[in-house]
Amino acid sequence: MSIWIANGLSQDLPPGVVMAGAWRGAELAIWRSASGRLAAWGDRCPHRGMRLSHGFVRGETLSCIYHGWVYGSDGGCRKIPAHPAMVPPAAIKAETYQCVEADGVIWVAPAGVEAAAPDLAGLTPVRSVTLRADRAALAQALPGAVVEGDLWRVPAMGAVLALQDRAEGLGLHALCHDATQRVAVSRWLDGVLRLAEEEALA
Ligand code: FES
Repeated sequence: MSIWIANGLSQDLPPGVVMAGAWRGAELAIWRSASGRLAAWGDRCPHRGMRLSHGFVRGETLSCIYHGWVYGSDGGCRKIPAHPAMVPPAAIKAETYQCVEADGVIWVAPAGVEAAAPDLAGLTPVRSVTLRADRAALAQALPGAVVEGDLWRVPAMGAVLALQDRAEGLGLHALCHDATQRVAVSRWLDGVLRLAEEEALA
């Protein structure tokens, strides 16, 4: 089992944006500040549990959409709009995960993990898709895949898929060895989705 889980491609999370993520069944909010700083948190506001992935980024902070509590990129609460004069206690803090960006991929691991994120240096990010089927169906669609935990290498296509279990399906974050084959790999990925989803229905 991999500790670092791919949560998307860098190209899909521009500054000022928050998106939903997942780490092995744990729902996450992943966001990039205006200056480009990444953060991954449990998707639950410490106030009343609203999803932080429904919030909005302002500069270097993320605000909860419900009562507007403002959090800094370390997860600490900076401001409570209903009590503007109050300095929020340090204990009010989002649950933080490690979040790094390497080789065009956003990787997430629990806090305190010392192992490095997978090394995909030299590969070109292609795109992320969601497969509405499980790994068994994906294996049927990719008989030549070399499985290394959550990394599936497909030598025949010069492609690598970083897998991510999500509530809505299986996230596939695709990269390729030859940048000139990016479009071909993207089309191939559409075919893989079709095949695997047909397998799942068979
Ligand atoms: S639930 Fe987030 S500010 Fe109230």
